[in-house]
Amino acid sequence: MSAAYPLEERAVWPAVPAMPPLPQGFALGRMSALDLEAVAGIEARAYSHPWTRGNFENSVKAGHLGLTLRDPAGTLVAYAVLMPVVDEMHLLNITVDPPRQRQGLGRLMLSIVLATSHAHRIHTMLLEVRPSNTGAIALYQAAGFAEIGRRKGYYPALGRTREDALVLRRSWPDDVAGEGKDGKEGGEGRA
Ligand SMILES: CC(C)(COP(=O)(O)OP(=O)(O)OC[C@H]1O[C@@H](n2cnc3c(N)ncnc32)[C@H](O)[C@@H]1OP(=O)(O)O)[C@@H](O)C(=O)NCCC(=O)NCCS
Repeated sequence: MSAAYPLEERAVWPAVPAMPPLPQGFALGRMSALDLEAVAGIEARAYSHPWTRGNFENSVKAGHLGLTLRDPAGTLVAYAVLMPVVDEMHLLNITVDPPRQRQGLGRLMLSIVLATSHAHRIHTMLLEVRPSNTGAIALYQAAGFAEIGRRKGYYPALGRTREDALVLRRSWPDDVAGEGKDGKEGGEGRA
């Protein structure tokens, strides 16, 4: 399906993340208590094992970086939650409301998330994903993430079973020339 919101980064993900232009009328915000109802509603629609409203509340209170994306009507359509851990950014959640999926918003949100990490001077991102979540994996791979490990039985699955998590990572230089003064490109696997 062709994206409804074609963006510059669609063809090539930049070697160093840069904040993408938002489609006209869209607004990026910081997740607050006022967003929790809408966020939890999308979450319940999007996952078989969703985070609860309380999980998001705790996350916001813990100081995790929650980002929201609203369409021109002011409707919340996507969000992400990031947790900085020293020099790594953990992407805890990235979700597009199911009726708005496959329109380019996931790609947009992931670009925003990477650029936000870069703006915080954190140049390695880690995330976990279910091996069965082939759509998300395709998106992450296109964005330059690579598998660095697997956590056995990490996720609850249907019928009281468990599903592994793939651990994916992307690192990038801290400037365009790749000549950052801390020389962290690549990083060492320790997730
Ligand atoms: C994963 C998710 C964020 C992607 O958002 P999205 O808006 O649907 O993604 P986009 O439209 O930007 O698609 C970007 C690319 O991702 C891949 N992709 C996304 N969904 C896919 C699917 N269902 N099947 C196959 N590929 C898919 C494709 O490569 C796609 O590019 P294309 O449309 O040019 O083929 C969204 O599907 C979602 O919220 N899923 C439920 C929550 C979730 O699983 N989050 C990730 C947890 S680790």
